[in-house]
Amino acid sequence: MKVGILTSGGDAPGINATIRGVGKTAINNYGMQVIGIQNGFSGLLYKDVVELTDKSLSGILNLGGTILGTAREKVFRKMINSPDEKDREQIKNAYHELGLDCLVCIGGNGTQRTTSMLSDIHLHVIGIPKTIDNDVYGTDITFGFDTAVNIATDAIDRLHSTASSHRRVMVIELMGHHAGWITLYAGMAGGADIILLPELGYNMKVVIEKIRKRMELGKAYSIVAVAEGVEVPTKEKPAIYFAREIQEQTGFETRETVLGYIQRGGSPSPYDRNLGTLLGGHAAELIHQGIFGRMVAKLGSEISDVALSDVAGKLRLVTPDTDLVLQGKRMGISFGVL
Ligand code: F6P
Repeated sequence: MKVGILTSGGDAPGINATIRGVGKTAINNYGMQVIGIQNGFSGLLYKDVVELTDKSLSGILNLGGTILGTAREKVFRKMINSPDEKDREQIKNAYHELGLDCLVCIGGNGTQRTTSMLSDIHLHVIGIPKTIDNDVYGTDITFGFDTAVNIATDAIDRLHSTASSHRRVMVIELMGHHAGWITLYAGMAGGADIILLPELGYNMKVVIEKIRKRMELGKAYSIVAVAEGVEVPTKEKPAIYFAREIQEQTGFETRETVLGYIQRGGSPSPYDRNLGTLLGGHAAELIHQGIFGRMVAKLGSEISDVALSDVAGKLRLVTPDTDLVLQGKRMGISFGVL
């Protein structure tokens, strides 16, 4: 059997561990041929491929990013949805001309939606969920998330020492697109005093009051963790908006940090390496069994798989009864809401 692997959407630590997991299992356990499709779905159309061997898959486990390159796939998705059947034929022809028996698509919820569309036009596909945002519906966790939380928590830890030295309010903005998972997990692990999530919204009066109260209690600094997806009334990035408003409304010196792409960079954590390895291996197992149209997933303590048609493109978001939200509230951490 000949398997193609592509990576699509934002990069994340652990992608290369996943490629290695699929490839080495397919090659060493099942004698399959494996090719890497470069730069996302467009690589399928342009047949931009590279042979993957046991040797070429060695030494990549600890590498960040993706050895295959990636891209956003909006153009490709338009082709699949195109009213012109010729566009879909072009995709199917590219797949068959490459002699593929299955295409493994490593990506976030957008990629999984595209992968499901390929399944709908009868191509053999398997999706592997990937994103630092941890917002892919159908799996309890995505690789990339643990590494991003480690990076963001380290950043918050570092803010405590400078904030306390200057008796300042520090506002840090973390990634997550429309989801607040990174901000929730790193905010709680890093001891933030205020955690603002897109799913919960906020009341500025509550934020200001919390900071004032802390100062009255002699807590000479505060740490505010805000997710990039929190909506603010100006065109400013949330961290900049909140830092300005807090300083204006409290008179306390306030500074902002936008952690940005640092959260996606560098070597994956051991957890993400092993999660990617397990998910990749499960994908190869499904292919060996001739099972397609599935997205591999971590469900509880199990590595499993779900129907792409049931999950593709749906978001998994923080809810008010998420355990860390409930525990944070019990401890007096503010989520910016009453
Ligand atoms: O999906 C991962 C992510 O890093 C989001 O957290 C962020 O909003 C987005 O990608 C940034 O997209 P791009 O890499 O295209 O700028």
